[in-house]
Amino acid sequence: MSATHAAPSSARPAPEAPEAPEAPEAPEARDPGDDAEPGQPSNLMDHAYDGIQEYDNPLPGWWKAIFIGCIVFAAMYGFYFHIANWGSTPGQRYAADLADFNDKKVMRDRAEAAHVNEAALARNASDSKLVEHGAAVFAVKCVGCHADQGRGMIGPNLTDTYQLHGTTRMDIFHTVHDGVSGTAMIAWGDQLSAADVLDVASYVTTLRGQNLAGGKPPQGEPVGPFQP
Ligand code: HEC
Repeated sequence: MSATHAAPSSARPAPEAPEAPEAPEAPEARDPGDDAEPGQPSNLMDHAYDGIQEYDNPLPGWWKAIFIGCIVFAAMYGFYFHIANWGSTPGQRYAADLADFNDKKVMRDRAEAAHVNEAALARNASDSKLVEHGAAVFAVKCVGCHADQGRGMIGPNLTDTYQLHGTTRMDIFHTVHDGVSGTAMIAWGDQLSAADVLDVASYVTTLRGQNLAGGKPPQGEPVGPFQP
């Protein structure tokens, strides 16, 4: 500064000069924070490389909060589902519900099967509607092995007067409901509704003694007509 310019400045009130050391209290140490506008000198960082300077434009607080929140959530999620195994996936819940449903179905079917008796089967066999329904089930599920109208093929002839398992209507019902393990005759109680099993077994009882032409040769013991 030249002396000519110094003169006017000296005209300023002298007491202002000592205030300079108080500068640290002034908002010059301003945090180049969220509210700093890009391009404001306060955002400019100290360093410069090859004359290139850098603005400090931090990510907004809400963005950082979401980012950190995601990391925290992922850690808790991983712990909950994969380490502690407290949670169950939709697949596991479905499997549990299905197992529960099947358990109940077994109980229900058992309860219904327990009410089936010789007299009920005889009554059903004389109810043409139920027998028709049983025949319809037979045509879908049983003809593959017992041939049409029960003449017999892979499975025994159901129209003769021979039977492999027992003699009564209930024996037929039990064979249909529980199957014969180790053979192609599965437990139809697991596949069909209780009503379907009941009706198809009732239908089978109407076949005995029909001795349809072209039937499979007899298997099992000779049995007479059903006892009333
Ligand atoms: C995959 C083949 C197959 C199917 C399907 C099948 N069965 Fe059988 N069934 C057999 C065989 C094999 C036997 C003989 C089992 C044995 O050797 O004890 C049999 C036995 C039976 C018997 C016992 C006969 C007797 O002499 O004691 C009845 C009743 C019977 N089946 C009814 C049915 C009904 C009703 C259906 C349909 C819901 C059905 N079966 C479906 C293969 C089958």
